[in-house]
Amino acid sequence: MAEVIIQSVTKKFGEVKAVNDFSATIADGEFVSILGPSGCGKTTMLRMVAGFERPTEGDIYIGDKLISSGQNGTFLPPEKRNIGMVFQSYAVWPHMTVFQNIAYPLKIQKVSKAEMTDRTNKALELVHLEGYGERFPHQLSGGQQQRVALARALVGEPRLLLLDEPLSNLDAKLRESMRFEIKDLQKKLKITVIYVTHDQAEAMAMSDRIIVMNQGIIQQNDKPQNIYENPTNKIVADFIGLVNFLPAEITAGSIEMPTIGFTLRQANSTTGKGLVAVRPEHITISKTGSGLSGTLLHKFYLGDSIDYRVKVKDEMIRVIDKSGSFEEYPDGETVYLEFNKLMAFPQSGK
Ligand SMILES: Nc1ncnc2c1ncn2[C@@H]1O[C@H](COP(=O)(O)OP(=O)(O)O)[C@@H](O)[C@H]1O
Ligand SMILES: [Mg+2]
Repeated sequence: MAEVIIQSVTKKFGEVKAVNDFSATIADGEFVSILGPSGCGKTTMLRMVAGFERPTEGDIYIGDKLISSGQNGTFLPPEKRNIGMVFQSYAVWPHMTVFQNIAYPLKIQKVSKAEMTDRTNKALELVHLEGYGERFPHQLSGGQQQRVALARALVGEPRLLLLDEPLSNLDAKLRESMRFEIKDLQKKLKITVIYVTHDQAEAMAMSDRIIVMNQGIIQQNDKPQNIYENPTNKIVADFIGLVNFLPAEITAGSIEMPTIGFTLRQANSTTGKGLVAVRPEHITISKTGSGLSGTLLHKFYLGDSIDYRVKVKDEMIRVIDKSGSFEEYPDGETVYLEFNKLMAFPQSGK
C-alpha cells in the first residue's frame, strides 16, 4: 500500500520557509505532480517524502506508517522506505556500466548474485535498454542515461516512485516521448508516482492530479482540467497556460473592464475590484462584428494556429486562433473580439 499522507508539513531553512503548511493525500496508484516555478519548494517537499530532509513541522505517512514527524522526531531512513527516486540531475555513476548502475541498489541490499542479474535484466527490459548493460554512461544519449536512472529507481520494486524534474535535461522531442514512456511504466507497474516539474504541459499530460505550489504554499490541488479551466486564483491562472489579465470591477450582474472600455453582462457570485483573466484561445477574432473592437498590430503564423496581438484602448490583447480558417487580416486593420470564457478574480481572492 503506497498511499502518501502529508499533514501540515513545514520546512524551514533558517528563516526561509521552503515549504509552508503543505497538506495532501496521494492515493495508492495515483500519479500526482507537484508543479510550480523554480524555488517554490518542490524538491524540498519531495526530499522530505524520500527521507533526505526532515520536516520542521508536520507528519508524513506512507500507508498507515508514520515515517517522518516534525513533532515527535519519528524518522525512518530513506533505505527503509521502499521508495525509488530519480533526482533532478539524474546522477548515473560515470565509472560504472549501465548494468552496475542499475544493480547498485540490489548490491546494497545484499541480494544474491543470480537474483541481482535476473532483476537487473528485467529492469533493463522495462526501460528498453536490453543489450546496453555493458556500456558506460558516456556511451549513451541523454535519453538513454535518463532511462538508466529510471531503471535504477525501479529495480528495487518500490511501491512509490519519486521523480524530480526527470526530463529537464532532454531536448523537446525526447521529453515528449519520455512522458508517455514514464506514464506507460506507471500503468504497467501500478505504482504511486509523485512527479515534480516546473513544466505545466508535462504536468497536464501525465497527471491524475496536479498540486500547484508557489513560495512554499499549495495554491490548488485538482485534476488537470480543473486547474486549467477553473484556476482558484490569479497565480494559478498565470502559471498554467497563457492568459490576458485586465483590471476589472466585478458586480453581481456585470464585469466592467475600464482599460479596454468594455462591459460584459454576466452573473457573478463574488464581487469587487479585481482582475479578469481571458485565455488567448478563448477569444474569437473577426473582421466584422460589434462590441469590442481593436487594431490588429501583429500576427504570427505558427502552422497549427495564428497568434495575434490586438491593441484595444490601453491594452495589448493576445488572441490565438486554432480554428484553421486562416483569414488574411492585414496589420493595422480594425478587428472585433469576442470573449467566449472569462475568469474573474476579485481582489479579496488570493
Ligand atoms: N539545503 C538548503 N539550505 C538552504 N536553503 C535551501 C536548501 N534547499 C532549498 N533551499 C531553499 O528553499 C527554497 C525551495 O527550494 P527548492 O525546494 O529546491 O525549490 P524548487 O525545487 O521548487 O526549485 C529556495 O528558496 C531554496 O533556495
Ligand atoms: Mg527543484
